[in-house]
Amino acid sequence: MKKILVVEFSQTGQLSAVLDALLAPLLADGSGVVVVRERLQPRPAYPFPWPFWQFMDAFPESVAGESPELAPLSVEASGDFDLVILGYPIWFLSPAPVLMGFLRSAAGRQLIKGKPVVTVTACRNMWLMAQEVVKQELTAAGANHRDHIALVDRGSAFATFITTPRWLLTGRKGAFWGFPAAGVTAEDIAGSRRFGLALREALRNDEEKQNAPMLHGLRACVVDDRLIASEKVGKRSFRIWARLLRALGRPGAPLRRAALVFYLVFLVCLILTVLPVSMLLKAALRPLLCKKLAAARSYFEQPSGSDSSRLALFNE
Ligand SMILES: Cc1cc2nc3c(=O)[nH]c(=O)nc-3n(C[C@H](O)[C@H](O)[C@H](O)COP(=O)(O)O)c2cc1C
Repeated sequence: MKKILVVEFSQTGQLSAVLDALLAPLLADGSGVVVVRERLQPRPAYPFPWPFWQFMDAFPESVAGESPELAPLSVEASGDFDLVILGYPIWFLSPAPVLMGFLRSAAGRQLIKGKPVVTVTACRNMWLMAQEVVKQELTAAGANHRDHIALVDRGSAFATFITTPRWLLTGRKGAFWGFPAAGVTAEDIAGSRRFGLALREALRNDEEKQNAPMLHGLRACVVDDRLIASEKVGKRSFRIWARLLRALGRPGAPLRRAALVFYLVFLVCLILTVLPVSMLLKAALRPLLCKKLAAARSYFEQPSGSDSSRLALFNE
């Protein structure tokens, strides 16, 4: 029997639904696998739907990677697993702080040290910078990062700019006024089963002991190269503002709240003025930057890649 540890955090249940679909083939009779699911629990729990100011106030700590207190893990830190799956959503271009809490804890590091790790994210559309942080943490903990699965909302950048905050701030997820429903589609969630089928096969062949991706050829990790530059610039600006806001006080502090209002106004102005110009510029420069963009896309799609050569093998 092979043992898999699944460490996850999901506020609305979206990421857990992805993991349910992925894990189904591994939980089926005769899979030869034991699955242990560890759901990370912040104390106190984050609210959902989010009150607006609490949502904004979560920004500095998310970017700084500061975790709230977590409930003790139910799994023993000394547990010995053949494979670890880490599932996390993206918050403000960063891994949800709860995952950072796990990755920086002594127990978390002990559990993943020397182990093959598969990371899974389900978010709006911007996960690149967050995954860079997770990769650094995995390296620091001595884990062996083997695969990454990224699921995103299929709506356009404009549509999801409206539908994602509406979902998070009101709890309403459905389609409205010509906008699509928020979140990863049910079809994409169900399609995550292919990763479970591929992992089951890989574990049967002891592939977790080799040093290569197990989920290649399954469109696990498709990067939209139009978002690479925006994410890099956004993350740089987020880091500066997060540092400033944290210097002004703890969450809820009046001075920090005032600066947050200023930042919001600044962001809206930026989105209305600089963003359209930079989009035009990017479109104009695209033919010149073709090679550079392709190299960047290929880098961010590692280790699992975006090709579909093995899709037909795992579509049962
Ligand atoms: C505070 C907060 C910030 C978020 N920031 C981002 C972001 O920067 N990029 C992104 O693609 N999605 C972002 N999202 C959406 C989440 O990644 C995720 O899709 C959503 O919260 C549902 O995930 P869950 O229910 O599995 O936790 C954010 C969500 C929250 C709550």
